[in-house]
Amino acid sequence: MEHKQDLMEKIVSLCKRRGFIYQGSEVYGGLAGTWDYGPLGVTLKKNIKDLWWKTFVESREDMYGIDAAILMNSKVWEATGHVATFADPMVEDLKTNKRYRADHLLEENGIDPKGMTVTQMGAEIKAHKLKSPDKNQLGDVRQFNMMFATQAGASGDSSATVYLRPETAQGMFVNFKNVVDSFHPKLPFGMAQIGKAFRNEITPRDFIFRLREFEQMEIEYFIRPEEWEEQFGSWLVRIKDFLTKTLGLDDSHIHEHEHSEEERSFYSKKTVDLEFDYPFGQKELYGLAYRTDYDLKKHSESSTVALEYLDEEAKIKFTPHVIEPAVGVDRTFLAVLCDAYTEDIMGEETRAYLKFKPQVAPVKAAVFPLLKNKPELVAKAREVYGMLKSELGAVMFDDNGNIGKRYRRQDEIGTPFCITIDFDTLENDTVTLRDRDTGQQERIKILELLSFLKSKI
Ligand code: GAP
Repeated sequence: MEHKQDLMEKIVSLCKRRGFIYQGSEVYGGLAGTWDYGPLGVTLKKNIKDLWWKTFVESREDMYGIDAAILMNSKVWEATGHVATFADPMVEDLKTNKRYRADHLLEENGIDPKGMTVTQMGAEIKAHKLKSPDKNQLGDVRQFNMMFATQAGASGDSSATVYLRPETAQGMFVNFKNVVDSFHPKLPFGMAQIGKAFRNEITPRDFIFRLREFEQMEIEYFIRPEEWEEQFGSWLVRIKDFLTKTLGLDDSHIHEHEHSEEERSFYSKKTVDLEFDYPFGQKELYGLAYRTDYDLKKHSESSTVALEYLDEEAKIKFTPHVIEPAVGVDRTFLAVLCDAYTEDIMGEETRAYLKFKPQVAPVKAAVFPLLKNKPELVAKAREVYGMLKSELGAVMFDDNGNIGKRYRRQDEIGTPFCITIDFDTLENDTVTLRDRDTGQQERIKILELLSFLKSKI
């Protein structure tokens, strides 16, 4: 346990030091539940999102991408039941007025809260005489709605209340008819979206795991009701493959957890989470839910538009059912970081490096002149760097310090390949290519460099 805490501290510290992730609003002491992505973080995050989009949207014929507004008419959230029930159980320290997640508090005290109502949680807290982390008495457990509300326009009355979306999913349901009318897709087909979501988490924590502002990558896959089990199974395989084969997560760190009836969200008939072994425990990374026809039906009932599908052969209209694979970008980012973080001994020194798959790595290659004070080496290195940069984008130039130090700096940010320009380069147009994981070096012709790197990334 201590070791894992240590690992988390090392990852957080590396993220700040090397420009992956900074505390949100840091110069003002931060803002709980928010983190800012720095230059390497934004690139790593973009790579994850691009791989997801390529896998689930671009390489399929049955998928339609959208980008809906974050602010949505509050009737959306009234119709789905979010205004009434999108809540977490909260308990307050009666002295400090600090608020806590009641289920988390029970878990931390060895009591499994799964399936408990707020009343049952309150009874457990009383029965076990549980205190707050500040050792004070706790109040009653009650539901706390997690949606952020704000006012749209100049009018201050309650009719101007709008919510920042707590999930991207509804953007797809309310655009169902638009996409059907524009593209006439045949069932089954899906809509996909990557975007920000906001939840007023009672206790944001564990770095970028539980945030108040985060990003989701969600699919609503519309199906005929009779095929839901088969589709559910296929999507479970696809999302696991994405995590392991595409992003490189260790298969043995991913576990399926099927929700019991009490755990399931109000809209779901079956939910399986893919949980990941984070340093702070096995926690939800990816959710797969069979949402039935709940959302389309609710919006059809509450709006003036029937969100239905016309089966042209059978000449019948019906509401499609939906399978929803939903994942957080930030949680995926953290899982990728945790699995990539590696320590080994190289050249009698301990090194820490990020063993990213080359497709995921924020920097694909780094180019070094062997010596900074030899203009002919620097000029040649600049030429090679320029050629690679114009083709690959994510390439770095470094002429600072000895080569060993430069390798370590690149290892620490997970750059898979380092290229050194030395005196032999000037003679025969070959360079040294060094592999991050093995530290092994080979000579390769400059002419072959680009195709080699392209075959790896
Ligand atoms: N549309 C379904 C939905 O939103 P969810 O399980 O509440 O389902 C989907 O969220 C995914 O979004 C989760 O599996 C998780 O990866 C991510 N997520 C949810 N809440 C989050 C939070 N507070 N911070 C970071 N990621 C979060």
